[in-house]
Amino acid sequence: MDFKIAEQDLQAKVDMLAVCVGGTDKDDSFSALDTALGGPLQDLAEAQGFEGKAGQRLLLTPMGRLAARQVLVVGLGNKKPNQPAEWQSLAASLAETANQQKATSLAITLGDEPEAWAAQAFAAAMGAGLVSYRFLTYKTKDAQAASLKSLWLQCPQKPNAAQNKALKDAFHDAKIYLDAIFAARDLVNEPPCVLHPPEFAKRAQEMANAYHLVCEVLDDTQMRELGMHMFLAVGAGSAQPCRLIRLVYKPTKKPKKGSMVLALVGKGLTFDSGGLCIKPAASMNGMQADMAGGAAVFGAMQAIAQLKPPFEIHGYIAAAENMTGAAAFRVNDVVTAYNKKTVEILNTDAEGRLVLGDTLSYACDQGATHVIDLATLTGACMVALGRYTAGVMSNTPTMADELKSAGEKVGESFWPLPLLEDVREGLKSNIADLSNVGERWGGAIAGGLFLREFVKEGVNWAHLDIAGPAHVERDFGILRRGGTGFGIATLLEYIRLATKV
Ligand code: BES
Ligand code: MN
Ligand code: ZN
Repeated sequence: MDFKIAEQDLQAKVDMLAVCVGGTDKDDSFSALDTALGGPLQDLAEAQGFEGKAGQRLLLTPMGRLAARQVLVVGLGNKKPNQPAEWQSLAASLAETANQQKATSLAITLGDEPEAWAAQAFAAAMGAGLVSYRFLTYKTKDAQAASLKSLWLQCPQKPNAAQNKALKDAFHDAKIYLDAIFAARDLVNEPPCVLHPPEFAKRAQEMANAYHLVCEVLDDTQMRELGMHMFLAVGAGSAQPCRLIRLVYKPTKKPKKGSMVLALVGKGLTFDSGGLCIKPAASMNGMQADMAGGAAVFGAMQAIAQLKPPFEIHGYIAAAENMTGAAAFRVNDVVTAYNKKTVEILNTDAEGRLVLGDTLSYACDQGATHVIDLATLTGACMVALGRYTAGVMSNTPTMADELKSAGEKVGESFWPLPLLEDVREGLKSNIADLSNVGERWGGAIAGGLFLREFVKEGVNWAHLDIAGPAHVERDFGILRRGGTGFGIATLLEYIRLATKV
């Protein structure tokens, strides 16, 4: 999608012109539009019960009086969009209507304050872009790409040079974010017979080559030499070998001493059958998306390579397939982790924490000062927070706060969960240092507590349980059905804030 800066103009040559009106006391934009149309608006609005309330829409054909094919009058109620997330969802809903109407171009007017334009333009570009994503790779007929190709943002006054540059930069960033999120959505949407761990590694290698990142792939032999037996146990029952993918971004200018080294760690289960503790058929559907955390790391690293923050960032994707082959790991097996802790397997379906545990310890060994992991880790997190909100658990309260507010800014919902010590009791094993499952209660927290065991002392760590929002059954807000790329925008916003301080 391309983005254009334009001046406010009711005669813009677009397929769909959106005119936002607030409140019942029809404002200036309403009367200006009415005049341009030759005065029918009052009657039309009345006939269709349009009062300018929030959520109300009036779709009109200008009958040749405007250059646009259609005019969408949008009720805002008493509240004009203010926060970036509000602009994002407004633009998303207008773009959705534009796509339904097969419009290829859509014009929206920015707010009155020029200082806010860049942030509004970024948010609007994101909203319109995100809802225009389609995954059509496997459709041999009826492939229906989104029609919307171009978004015009009209400024109420002519932007000066600085404002123009800020708007251009906002569009440039939005393109980077959208490409990253779409790359992740594409990966999540790939079927598991195509995207297995070696293929995931191949795609990471290709992305790294294209964007000038370093990519190192550890294969199963190298992982065995390093002692990652907890990780390898998960892939043992699969015909596809495990891969630990590492993507490294280094700024061209050497960072100041004491700068943070951030590691992003993603769960990359290309399919989770549950292993020998096999899932019932209904719960297995969707488990091709169990690599969504890894896909988010992939997308975030692709964007980071272009945004070039001033500190080092390491991306890790823990790729494995959890299957039931003859060599599959068993319940009551004891495995030794990379950090030498022993773990008794009490449920082979609690596999994400096993691949992540080894990857977290490895990331700490590679010099990370801050680690954020993203994982479709527990159904329990969805029981706690619903489909659309991710859980945040952290050993550093400020990090959890920062991630939650970064999420609010970009329209992704996170909620903190406590790492309760009483839940840790459940992870005790009779024969090993720890077991991979606790009792039923507090399942999301138990997952977080298990991971904490593999984070080196002194490292700031946050765990994002994205089991709900990483993959959705139906369109919701900015999320399209299927893989959502959830977490990428939040990570990038978190990095942007960390760059400022
Ligand atoms: N990948 C699943 C979690 C999941 C469930 C993600 C639903 C997305 C939607 C994970 O590996 C899993 O199976 N977790 C178990 C943990 C349990 C065995 C402790 C679960 O949630 O039931
Ligand atoms: Mn599982
Ligand atoms: Zn899983």
